[in-house]
Amino acid sequence: MHVLISGAGIAGPTLAYFLSKAGATITILERSESLLPHGQNIDIKGSAVKVIETMGLIDQLRKLNTTEMGAQFIDSKGRPFAQFPVTGAASPTAEFEILRGDLAIILSDATKEDPNVTYLLGTTIQEVITNDNDTVKVKLSNGEVQEFDLLVAADGQWSKTRSQCFPSETVTVVDKGLYVAYFTVPRLSGDNAWWKIYHALGSRIISLRPDPHGTIRALLGRMPCNDSQKKAWLEASKSDRDAQETLLKSEFADAGWQAQRLLDAMGEAPDFYFQAVQQVKMSKWSNSRVVCLGDAAHAPTPLTGMGTSLAILGAYILAGELSKLGDGDPPFQALEAYENTFRPFVEKIQKIPSFIPGIAHPGTPLKRWLFQTVVLIVSKIIANPLVVWVGKKFGGSYGAHEFPLPHFSKLDVEGGH
Ligand SMILES: Cc1cc2nc3c(=O)[nH]c(=O)nc-3n(C[C@H](O)[C@H](O)[C@H](O)COP(=O)(O)OP(=O)(O)OC[C@H]3O[C@@H](n4cnc5c(N)ncnc54)[C@H](O)[C@@H]3O)c2cc1C
Ligand SMILES: *[C@@H]1O[C@H](CO)[C@@H](O)[C@H](O)[C@H]1NC(C)=O
Ligand SMILES: *[C@@H]1O[C@H](CO)[C@@H](O)[C@H](O)[C@H]1NC(C)=O
Ligand SMILES: *[C@@H]1O[C@H](CO)[C@@H](O)[C@H](O)[C@H]1NC(C)=O
Ligand SMILES: *[C@@H]1O[C@H](CO)[C@@H](O)[C@H](O)[C@H]1NC(C)=O
Repeated sequence: MHVLISGAGIAGPTLAYFLSKAGATITILERSESLLPHGQNIDIKGSAVKVIETMGLIDQLRKLNTTEMGAQFIDSKGRPFAQFPVTGAASPTAEFEILRGDLAIILSDATKEDPNVTYLLGTTIQEVITNDNDTVKVKLSNGEVQEFDLLVAADGQWSKTRSQCFPSETVTVVDKGLYVAYFTVPRLSGDNAWWKIYHALGSRIISLRPDPHGTIRALLGRMPCNDSQKKAWLEASKSDRDAQETLLKSEFADAGWQAQRLLDAMGEAPDFYFQAVQQVKMSKWSNSRVVCLGDAAHAPTPLTGMGTSLAILGAYILAGELSKLGDGDPPFQALEAYENTFRPFVEKIQKIPSFIPGIAHPGTPLKRWLFQTVVLIVSKIIANPLVVWVGKKFGGSYGAHEFPLPHFSKLDVEGGH
């Protein structure tokens, strides 16, 4: 089977790894000229950890942990008033937490030397010429026309492949009314290994997190409060980096704490990334010989902490179902089976209570005080060792992140797991 994958982020290389084991020949396109080392902390949870173990990459994952000790909430005077150590029951720092870029590099390194996998960097699909029962034929940006048995859209939240191959009425984008900018800044002597979270008035949030590369990862987030502000943020999200920086500078200048330091360093950041927090929902993930995977199919937003785990799990299940096909079989049955198996889990993860972004972005002093008080009480309760134990026992193995991993014999890695 000849498979074309668009996008070498998280889902693309994971799929290539398992499809190669099953005997497929794979071409991966990546829009960027190099594999992007960009992105901040992402969690790998539950069954997705098992997939990474199967790939033999768990030690590399541990080595590139973010070194974070846990989370601290910062008050308006810049002092930590509540903390959640990584060893606690409700730590927002996951056991397997890694920078997105580090994971993307680990995954592509695991497939780069594989003779069954070809990476074409700086290359995109210009046009999908045909997608029918017999073949999917594409024209690439390098001018070549090629035919494949299957095209996989793993090109992220704003997938171009998706918009080329699926009618727009089958794709729903759910706006969460929240915007975030991520970028890396130099580490100063006052920085330490805690994730620091500060709530400024006007539904603004600033966070600083350590990384394993000697720099600090900054996040600025805002839920716009009124219509004119909503319009400004939405426009910025569709605009270029200059426009986004200009908006951030005017809207965070009076935010307090370390806002000014971050705004001053923002222009120099190599990896500025601005995102409207939106979920993607498709009525069907495949159309003939084209299938969407990862964020392209079902971006759940960082509010769930599960985007990367879903991308990894989906890649494993899709490869597994394809591996069950006989020689020359069309992929349709496998695409159906993949969706039937995985969709209920995805839909469960995508259910974010609608109050969540609002509660974490208090707008008024009263709401901020309420939020900070709740955080303080929770941090005291979970410091209690009994609660820690109960949380580990029942939160870990019976948590919402477990998906029963099917076994696919053709994906078994040599030496066996
Ligand atoms: C630069 C970047 C930074 C990110 N930072 C964070 C973060 O800090 N926190 C967080 O929670 N999530 C972040 N994400 C999202 C996170 O990676 C995904 O939610 C999740 O890991 C799912 O992975 P994916 O492989 O489906 O999509 P992605 O990781 O988004 O990968 C998609 C890949 O497709 C490539 N691509 C896009 N368009 C095309 C095209 N037309 N043709 C070919 N290739 C294309 C992109 O360059 C990218 O490499 C980031 C994504 C990117 C691309
Ligand atoms: C490449 O494909 C062959 C079968 O075509 C398979 O035996 C081999 O394991 C694959 N290589 C890797 C590194 O997975
Ligand atoms: C995290 O990585 C550091 C090296 O960067 C290592 O010393 C440490 O043991 C790792 N921690 C865990 C929990 O794996
Ligand atoms: C494509 O295949 C399906 C199922 O195998 C069949 O029902 C359909 O008629 C075929 N379409 C064309 C255009 O051949
Ligand atoms: C919208 O909110 C912003 C920030 O709170 C404020 O500066 C602006 O005046 C408000 N605009 C309107 C039209 O209320």
